Formats: sequence, structure tokens, C-alpha cells
Amino acid sequence: MSERTSASEAGLVAGAGHLARRSAQWFGVSGRTGFLHRSWMRAEGFTPEVFDGRPVIGIANSFSELTPCNSHLDRVAEAVKRGVWQAGGFPLEFPTMSLGETLLRPTAMLYRNLMAMEVEENLRANPLDGVVLLSGCDKTTPAMLMGAASVDLPAILVTGGPMLRGRWRGHDIGSGTDVWRLTEEHRAGRLTAEDLLEAETCMNRSNGHCMTMGTASTMACMAEALGMSLKGSAVIPAPDAGRMRIAQLAGQRIVEMVLEDGPRPSQVLTRAAFENAIRANAAIGGSTNAVIHLMAIAGRVGVELELEDFDRLVADVPLLVDLMPSGKWLMEDFHDAGGLPVVLAELAGAGLIDPAALTISGKSIGDQVAGATSWRPDVVRSMAAPVQEAGSGTAILRGNLCPDGAVIKISAATPELLAHRGRAVVFDSLEEYLVASERDDLDVSADDILVLRYAGPRGYPGMPEVGNMPLPAKILRTGVTDMVRISDARMSGTGYGTVVLHAAPEAAAGGPLALVRTGDMIELDAYARRLVMEVSDEELASRRALWTAPEPASRRGWTRLYVDHVLQADKGCDLDFLVGSSGDTVPRENH
Ligand code: FES
Repeated sequence: MSERTSASEAGLVAGAGHLARRSAQWFGVSGRTGFLHRSWMRAEGFTPEVFDGRPVIGIANSFSELTPCNSHLDRVAEAVKRGVWQAGGFPLEFPTMSLGETLLRPTAMLYRNLMAMEVEENLRANPLDGVVLLSGCDKTTPAMLMGAASVDLPAILVTGGPMLRGRWRGHDIGSGTDVWRLTEEHRAGRLTAEDLLEAETCMNRSNGHCMTMGTASTMACMAEALGMSLKGSAVIPAPDAGRMRIAQLAGQRIVEMVLEDGPRPSQVLTRAAFENAIRANAAIGGSTNAVIHLMAIAGRVGVELELEDFDRLVADVPLLVDLMPSGKWLMEDFHDAGGLPVVLAELAGAGLIDPAALTISGKSIGDQVAGATSWRPDVVRSMAAPVQEAGSGTAILRGNLCPDGAVIKISAATPELLAHRGRAVVFDSLEEYLVASERDDLDVSADDILVLRYAGPRGYPGMPEVGNMPLPAKILRTGVTDMVRISDARMSGTGYGTVVLHAAPEAAAGGPLALVRTGDMIELDAYARRLVMEVSDEELASRRALWTAPEPASRRGWTRLYVDHVLQADKGCDLDFLVGSSGDTVPRENH
């Protein structure tokens, strides 16, 4: 066949399987429409065989130099393409929005739903039969999964993998976790500015996302536990050749999935899959952010998760993985130990996950992880010798301070503070607190409870990771390293401390957090799942009568849409009109 022969002339558009395929609605038709669709693609230099009915695979790439954790995804995409070509597909890479945790202001979370919406519209609007989703930094993984779940094309998620271990002065240092520790040491006068600069240089040694069990690592593990990534995918370090191998395998597998018509996200993302992920999150010491992201993903596929699921389901799950911030090691060590399959195999052996849940490999999760063994029992422990006993995961608190719930990560807290009564010291903004926290005359003691409000989804806006605010300088200097802190904000997955997060409803939505005053007594009892301010209902009613809602941060653009429609933390912070799925059908054809 001449290279100049059109696909139509070669009879490439008439195969029965081809016509049944989604991409055939673009490339498999004759006349003007087919001409337009094929001819402009030919401008990229493709030969006509790409239109012979083979699966067209999108590679949704969140590469960006403004997202350091994702800045190597161009190379991961090349490996995916190899796999797609190898299996007889036609790969087409396209960029998505990218959300970098460290640079985006006011917070990357403000844009998670925007990225999810963009991914969803891109998948539906383009001639794709399946997609490989490339993510890395925290929000990019849930955003990809949310968008893909709503469209329900066959999809595989490949993350860029964690960075290598941070190394400084002969010790491991973990991204995020040691930023909090070292900067606090500097504030307390125990590290010089030169020390800090040296640590800054040594912490992040390679491409990849944070190598602690922060939100990026957590969500990579959640994707694998949900069944949306290939076995072992979550933990392979970014510079390891295995990262490229698994990307190539994903390229091969997505072509098979299109040819076999599934499984699709709606077949993988079942209630059983979410329950498995919630339990896996407790066993790995995962981020509190997983609560919000899993609820948002579940909302896209009609699985109704309750906040209490994140407490009830983990009550008998011990902490098995000894990683920062709850433990000692880093993701590279988790990889050495055998990765998430080992954890899932331990949980399956104890009857703590549903082994029948389907994965994108076509196998059940039980079959997939059967026989996985820990090669480093110091990093991934057995059920018989856990890092922490069952019940050390997330706890859901209720009370008159958070009638719609709040979250605390038990494994990251100081045990003595988990049941604590103290005087509230209240701040209406992080900026106000940061100035006050440096003052020696600040009226605060180590037994007080710091309250930060108006930092929720609508209030900030975007619910930033500021809930583990640094301790007041005068307290730090006494050697105290933890205090009870309460907010409607989130906390970085790399953070730690006795920190109550996600108080709902948030203060900006009129939640009771808006009514607490400095001097009120607050009782936290994480064991009894209680968070109560000792203020009478009558007094709260009179305070409410005086309360006025703050002005929204913006009256235009995305921020306005977000503030008007964002759901509260106990519902996953999706936009109300994005919950659910709309499928892959394009409403109008373009002729
Ligand atoms: Fe991107 Fe931590 S900053 S994963």
C-alpha cells in the first residue's frame, strides 16, 4: 500500500470490530468527517495503519516543570507508548492540568476538582478507547481517578513513583516530614541557617514524588489497592528501571483491556474495592487526605461511603508499614520489602480485605497478591508483629464542635494527648497565628488547645494543609514538641502531631467552630471519638445570633464556582454538580 493511500481507500475503515470501537466514530467513517479526522492526524506523520481499527489509547500526562514531582512524566509516557505500540494500539499523549503541592497558591486542593473536570472532558471529547493516566504529586492522582471514573473508559493509573531516600549527614531524611522537624529545630535555635540550607540541598535527590508515606505515596497505594494500577506499581522509585517497565506493561495491558471491553472503572471501583483501600490505608499509615479523596472518587461511581467507614473498617487493622511520618523508613525501603502486595497479602490472610475484588489486570486482588512475602520484615511487618496495634489509623470524632465529623490520625499523634482537656486559644487565619506564634507574650501554655478556623474548603478557599500549624516559639523552646490542634483545614500526609482535622461543617459555612472563643474549655477524647466544647447550648445560640458569614475570597472565575459548589469535608469536597458519572457518550457529533 502506498504511504499516500488514504485509510478509506485501503478499506481500513470497514472492519466490524473497528466500527464497534469508540474511536471509529471519528476515524472509521467515510466522507468529509472521516477526511477531517484522519487527515489532520496524518500531519503528525502517522502512516494510515493507525486508522485500521486498532485501539486508540490516550496517555493523560500531568507533566509540568512547575510540578517537580511530575517533571519526569514525559519519560514515563514514552515507556507507555512503547507498550501500546507493542500490543497493537495507537498511543496519543495529551497534557492535563498539573497540580504541584509546593508551589500552587493558595493551595493545590483548590484545583483538584478543576483538574478532574478537565480530565473528564478531555477523555469524553476525544477519540479515545482507553486511557493511561500519569500522575504523581498529591492531588494529581485523585483528580485523574475522579475524571476517569466519571467517563468510565478502560483506564490504568501509573504514578511517576517516589524519590530516592533523602540523605543528610549519614542519615535518611524524608520529604515533608523532616521539613517540619528541621525547621522547628531551627526555630528552637538547635540548627543554624547553614545547617538548614545543607539539609534543603540533600533532601530531594531525584525525580519523583515525596518518598515518605505522604499523600502522594498514599494515593498511589490507594490506586493499587482499589485495583486501578498494576501490581507493585505504587512503590517503585521514580529513577528505578522498574518504573519504566511497569509503564510499558501498562501500555500493553490497556490495549488488551480495550480489546476485551474492560474491566472499566465502574467494574473495578466497587464498594468492596473502597473497603479494601480504606483498610490498606490504615495498614500503611496513610494520609488523612485519603479520606477526602476516596470519598470524592467513590461519589463519581455511586458508591456511598460514610465518614464512619474510615473508623469502623480500620478498627481491627494494625499498622504494618514502618514508614515516616508514623515510623522510620522511606518508600525505597517499602519497595525493597516487596511493596503494597505484601501488605494486601497480610490483610487477605487475616480476612481483612475482600479477595474477590476485581483489578484492571483482570485478576482478583486476592489472586494478584497471593504469596507476596516481606523481604524486609523491619519495614513491612506481619499481622503477628505489627508496628502499632489495631486501631491506630484514622478515628472519626463527633461532638458539638464538629457535628458532621472530624478526623484524627492516631498513629501520628502523641498518645498522652489523645485524651486531653484544655483551654481554647483561637485564631481566625493562619497568617494571624503565624505572627502571634512568634510572640513571647502570647497567652498560651502547652496544655492549651490551638484552634485554627476559616481554613476549610469554602473559607480559605481550598482547605489547605495547615492544620498541623507550628507550635508557638515560646512553647518550642521549652522542649515541648506536640500540642492538641483543631481546625477545619487538612494536614499534609507527611505531617504529624495530635491534630484534629476536617472539622465539619467548616467555620465559613457556619459550623460551630465559628462560635468557639479563646478561654472556652475543649475536651478531646479520641478513644471515645468525642470532641466537645464545654459551652451551653443557650450560650452557643446567642453567639450564633451575632455571627456573620465572611465575604467569599473571590466573586469571579474558578474560585467563585468552587466556593459556590464545593461539598464539605465529610462528603469529599467534590463540587455538587460533579458527583456521579456521565459516561463516554458525546452529546453532539461535529460534522
Ligand atoms: Fe509533590 Fe510531596 S510535594 S508529592
